[in-house]
Amino acid sequence: MSDRAPCAIAIAGVAGRMGQALLRAALDDPAGFQIAGATERPGSLTLGRDVGELVGRPRIGVTATPSVEQAAAHAAVWVDFTTPQALSDALARLDTTPVRALVVGTTGLDTADEAALAEAARRVVVVRSGNFSMGVNVLAGLVRRAARALGPDWDIEILETHHRRKVDAPSGTALLLARAAAEGRGGGALAHEGPGRTGARGEGSIGFAVRRGGGVVGEHEVAFLAEAESVRLTHIAADRGLFARGALAAAHWALGDVPPGLYGMDDVLFGPGAA
Ligand SMILES: NC(=O)c1ccc[n+]([C@@H]2O[C@H](COP(=O)([O-])OP(=O)(O)OC[C@H]3O[C@@H](n4cnc5c(N)ncnc54)[C@H](OP(=O)(O)O)[C@@H]3O)[C@@H](O)[C@H]2O)c1
Repeated sequence: MSDRAPCAIAIAGVAGRMGQALLRAALDDPAGFQIAGATERPGSLTLGRDVGELVGRPRIGVTATPSVEQAAAHAAVWVDFTTPQALSDALARLDTTPVRALVVGTTGLDTADEAALAEAARRVVVVRSGNFSMGVNVLAGLVRRAARALGPDWDIEILETHHRRKVDAPSGTALLLARAAAEGRGGGALAHEGPGRTGARGEGSIGFAVRRGGGVVGEHEVAFLAEAESVRLTHIAADRGLFARGALAAAHWALGDVPPGLYGMDDVLFGPGAA
């Protein structure tokens, strides 16, 4: 890490599960990262508190603020794992700040949010992924390959399990894996079959099953099902620090020799277009 200039990041939603994981990972690598700012929800009890203390570390002289402009005033990268509403609010305000890159892990975005992200990607580097782990991005490649090799006669079902507080479903990772499967089958629309479905399976559809409970960080299984055999590919995340470390690697990558545009974690890990 010593040959790199520290990357000045602003962490959105710093008191959240991922916000704290990002903060810890960045504080663990002081040569690589400088915390330039941090936001929290207006009204949050953490506002005005030194963010170092938030994770049981020494004070670092940065307090959580509800102001995007203030948090981003000295930041090169905006790292956002919040809510679609908070992300959309930040996207509307970051234009006037020195931020040159966005790393976006927030899931549950609607088409308007997606359009706002694509618009931002015309001016800055945006790395957006439903999952910032190395394992899931390798899994996506395997799923693409398996779907291509097995062909349309094999049904594809994605089962995901997350902790009881997760609000969106299916997870961003399940959607990422479904997209990979659909690409492997030769493109075409991604047909969802959600929980609660009844009747016969739609031909060519990709089904989702969702479980919520406990403290599960994230488990995904992609099952390829034929009449007499099945193939199951699984990823289990045991610690959200792995998403944080991936997101921070993406932040450094985004400040490299990368033109503005919308990128995924596979671009960071394997090079643009390698997927
Ligand atoms: N892509 C990946 O690899 C990956 C991995 C894990 C999670 N995620 C996604 O990341 C997001 C966050 O997950 P999480 O588990 O960390 O959720 P979380 O614990 O609820 O954290 C979200 C944080 O954002 C804060 N917030 C809400 N509105 C805000 C605003 N206007 N300004 C600033 N902060 C605001 C929340 O504050 P309050 O709690 O006070 O409302 C909370 O502290 C979710 O969309 C999740 O699916 C993605």
